Amino acid sequence: MGDISVKAYAKINLCLDVVRKMDSGYHEIATVMQSVDLCDDIDITFNDQASITAESNLYFLPKGDKNIAVRAVRLFFEASGTPPRGCVIKIKKRIPVCAGMAGGSTDGAAVLRALNDYFSIGFKQKELESLAEKLGSDLPFCVGGGTVLCKGRGEIMTELKAMPRCRVLICKPPFPISTAELFSVIDSSALKHRPDIDGMLISIEQGCLAGVARRMYNVFEDVLPQRYSEIRSIKSKLLDTGALGASMTGTGSAVFGLYDDEETAEKAFALMKKQYDECFLAETMEKYV
Ligand code: C5P
Repeated sequence: MGDISVKAYAKINLCLDVVRKMDSGYHEIATVMQSVDLCDDIDITFNDQASITAESNLYFLPKGDKNIAVRAVRLFFEASGTPPRGCVIKIKKRIPVCAGMAGGSTDGAAVLRALNDYFSIGFKQKELESLAEKLGSDLPFCVGGGTVLCKGRGEIMTELKAMPRCRVLICKPPFPISTAELFSVIDSSALKHRPDIDGMLISIEQGCLAGVARRMYNVFEDVLPQRYSEIRSIKSKLLDTGALGASMTGTGSAVFGLYDDEETAEKAFALMKKQYDECFLAETMEKYV
């Protein structure tokens, strides 16, 4: 155990729309994000050196400034005026990488949250979210998690009532998808279908899981290059196993299904695990801050 231990939770997108391309080159989105209890474990140990480095169980994760957790430590020291200290950030990675589950973003957000507590700085949630935004679009949501409507690049957030608790089966095919690649091929004005976000919000407010599942829709599925066709096949498989609804999360490549029944979810997990190495049975989570 290090000086600080914190869990970093993954997210799924219950629905995802791309509204327009902004002058900055980024895209304005509208999405309902939901935390799940699949998480990375982060341990931070301070030392007498000047360097901030990351270590993990995945050999290919960056150890230096390319790792968002390292940048989060630097940003925290700058923003809080705390004298910088060297440290090693150990990350036990469970959340699949390049999967649309905010795996990197949630590590960065968890580091900000944990350092704020450890050094008793007293940044409020909104202040942490503004800091987090400097590190990436998904980070503000990851500061507090829960069920949240996110607009803009993801930083304009409206907290929603927690969605009905359910099991979430997540399945990632053996290829990653780059976020930049999918944003580069989407033309929001040419999209034929869009998610019914208002309907999704009503279903969440009413606590109607079937309504949530029925309205799950991700516009990136409509522009997936042919070589990613396995995404569609995973979705069909999840629906065949009894999922109430299934969708790709974020810009992929992970796909998830929602289940209201424990036994059905367990059976589906056992079946999918035989076909996909990166398969996880998780549960929805309420806000953790
Ligand atoms: O936020 P992240 O760094 O993961 O985004 C990777 C790339 O995806 C960005 O450089 C940008 O090209 C694209 N992107 C976008 N609009 C967003 C989020 C990401 O165009 N809202």
